[in-house]
Amino acid sequence: MSTPRKRAAILISGRGSNMMSLVAAARDPAWPAEIAVVIANRPEAAGLPWAAAQGIATLALDHKAFATRAAFEDRLHAALLHAGVEIVCLAGFMRMLTKGFVDRWRDRLVNIHPSLLPAFPGLDTHERALREGVKIAGCTVHLVRLEMDTGPIIAQAAVPVVPGDTPETLGRRVLAAEHRLYPHALALLASGRARVSGETIQLLQSVNQDDALFSPSLESVVT
Ligand code: GRF
Repeated sequence: MSTPRKRAAILISGRGSNMMSLVAAARDPAWPAEIAVVIANRPEAAGLPWAAAQGIATLALDHKAFATRAAFEDRLHAALLHAGVEIVCLAGFMRMLTKGFVDRWRDRLVNIHPSLLPAFPGLDTHERALREGVKIAGCTVHLVRLEMDTGPIIAQAAVPVVPGDTPETLGRRVLAAEHRLYPHALALLASGRARVSGETIQLLQSVNQDDALFSPSLESVVT
């Protein structure tokens, strides 16, 4: 008998392009997770009607309608349990979660961040990466711990920074990598090939030891 697919929720606040990439991956019945529900803390989130049109259960939980963070999170938690959710994926979810929620979903709460963590946690990552002059940027999928953008790293993707990049051009290149990385990372977790070991992830998955991204590329000297 094949292992049942893990039931995942996706939490969004806006356009939801990473949510779309996870939904697309989950269309393959052999993929180890299914999307049980998409929840937004902003009723106007553009991703919500898109998910509903795919036949996925959706829920708008306006955080402003709750007196306290705890009240919002209790309702969110109840909705996740109701949907039989086993893994929660934050995808552009712009609401800090408190210790109570993070503890309840420990090692089952995943986030994507548009930098190579632990570099550039927080906002304006591309602007800050360009200001620092880094030559390789990227994105990270990690388990969520209480401090923002920390927690065991499941997978990362690197992209080059190219001359003339603006936060927008770099952001587009990183986002394209995010759309490939998140489904890959969630599949690793849902299938048990990524396991938490202390505060890091142990991978039961082959790693291509010969892959390296050189930026600028080795042959790029202009004469
Ligand atoms: C992504 O860059 C993600 O890494 C960050 O917020 C953005 C969300 O974009 N956490 P989208 O809503 O998935 O298009």
